[in-house]
Amino acid sequence: MSAPPIPPAAVSPEPRARAKITARTLRTDRWWLTPLLTVLGLVAWIAYATVRAFMQKYYWVDDYHYLTPFYSPCVSNGCVPEAAHFGRVLPDVWFIPYAALSLPFLLLFRLTCYYYRKAYYRSFWLSPPACAVAEPHTKYTGETRFPLLGQNAHRYAFYAAFLISIINTFDAFAAFRSGDGFGFGLGNVILLANVVALWAYTLSCHSCRHIVGGRLKHFSKHPVRYRAWTFVSRLNGKHQELAWLTLGTLAFTDFYVMAVSAGWFSDLRFVG
Ligand code: FES
Repeated sequence: MSAPPIPPAAVSPEPRARAKITARTLRTDRWWLTPLLTVLGLVAWIAYATVRAFMQKYYWVDDYHYLTPFYSPCVSNGCVPEAAHFGRVLPDVWFIPYAALSLPFLLLFRLTCYYYRKAYYRSFWLSPPACAVAEPHTKYTGETRFPLLGQNAHRYAFYAAFLISIINTFDAFAAFRSGDGFGFGLGNVILLANVVALWAYTLSCHSCRHIVGGRLKHFSKHPVRYRAWTFVSRLNGKHQELAWLTLGTLAFTDFYVMAVSAGWFSDLRFVG
């Protein structure tokens, strides 16, 4: 008996060659705006942070114990003793930032962050600059080779960033001392808000989400981890926004401490 004939609708269409489009993109919207703003924002932030990290002054407000996060932990021999909560172990030379023990890890954490990777692959390397816009590169090897293979270090950078967030939290609480007693001013509010934002960004990390809820077969057998994973997943959905928010809170907190420390204006005090 012969097989029944295949109805026409079930027959696959003839494979067609892809359209030859010479234009780089057919998009007519302002697709270039997001990469452009990303470049401007990141370059401005990096320039500010570099200047501040090497300035080696205006990082500490003695009256209110405010320490900028850019100098935390302050571990250089050049740090004022009151600001060096964790000892002074590094030589005081102009090319070593006072927080040289934490800054490289924070840089690695942000550089290998999934969101920032997307941001600089698109905006700086144009690889590709936007959806449906051809990239200028002819070859693509992704993150399978050196140096981009190093992006896998992100999970380790996360552990370091987690520890540094604890240190930043310690700094924020240590700043509630004014003279010999309790003190509270606008600087405390700014330091605390920055720490809350830093925790939100750090905990929203994709590696954190995996550490909290990954490698489990049954969430029902791990209710605590499931709850933690649900919380982290919710934050994770806002990771891009938190990445930019924390760049803002870090720069703003640093600027406020610098301004008060330099005497450009006084801290608004509520108590002490
Ligand atoms: Fe962005 Fe981990 S993915 S900090």
